[in-house]
Amino acid sequence: MSGARSATKGRPARAGRRPELDGQTVVVIGGSAGIGLETARRAASEGARVILTGRDPGRLRRAAEEVGAATVSAFDVHDDTALNAFFDGLPDPVDHVMVTAGRPYYAPLADLDLDEARRELGDAPLSVLGIGRRAAGKVRPGGTLIFMSGTGARRPGVGLGVISALTAALPALTANLALEIAPVRVNLIAAGFVDTPLSASLLGDGLEARRDQLRANLPIGRVVGPADVASLAVHLMVNTALTGATYDIDGGQQLLSM
Ligand SMILES: NC(=O)c1ccc[n+]([C@@H]2O[C@H](COP(=O)([O-])OP(=O)(O)OC[C@H]3O[C@@H](n4cnc5c(N)ncnc54)[C@H](OP(=O)(O)O)[C@@H]3O)[C@@H](O)[C@H]2O)c1
Repeated sequence: MSGARSATKGRPARAGRRPELDGQTVVVIGGSAGIGLETARRAASEGARVILTGRDPGRLRRAAEEVGAATVSAFDVHDDTALNAFFDGLPDPVDHVMVTAGRPYYAPLADLDLDEARRELGDAPLSVLGIGRRAAGKVRPGGTLIFMSGTGARRPGVGLGVISALTAALPALTANLALEIAPVRVNLIAAGFVDTPLSASLLGDGLEARRDQLRANLPIGRVVGPADVASLAVHLMVNTALTGATYDIDGGQQLLSM
């Protein structure tokens, strides 16, 4: 699904300064909910033209309407044919590509579904490489690709094997890609708990207790929300000195055993 939409609707940047992404185009792969949607909202408010993707066409349409996205495209990021068609179909170069599609796979060894683990261990790094290769020809010099990872699986734990391995791999892939596709920049955001629909679906009835626990224990005294991550993402887009690195945003969660 794709289609032209009207000009950017996001709230204007603060009066008296030029919007930071004025005239730029931001693609958010996984932009219909959570961190991706919030980044799209923020980018639009900074003057960007926004292109959103996700799998569920209805959810994507509602998100696009809300942020005034220029174009939407519904596909699974792990479908190489669809991903290639999406990049081939971009009529003009873009400035930034943020990838928030995906979810973690947690399972103790005894319950591990090996097919799912294999898929997961292949899909996440390969989509970084695949998007890196496809985006290299489409992103303007100085623009950035931004991928997502986490801080929670840096500490080993039961059920964290797959996600731990990916947590270790993604910073290395990011750094290598930053050399390979320069002058396009490549950066990785590693988040702790972020209060999004994904977290709600993973925690179910335990969501409110987890929020309370974080509010009571995190050094920042509050829960990290998608707007916090969106703000970091827009900074990574704007600050052309940043490439090849991993940026933690977890309110200090990794300093604690929680
Ligand atoms: N929330 C956290 O606490 C947290 C912490 C660390 C890292 N992360 C990572 O940050 C990223 C964003 O998380 P979030 O919490 O914002 O997730 P979310 O609320 O579930 O939003 C994910 C977005 O990506 C889309 N999406 C998911 N899988 C996709 C796929 N295979 N192909 C295309 N689009 C897909 C979803 O729409 P459709 O479902 O319609 O496709 C949705 O728009 C994820 O990779 C997550 O693992 C999250």
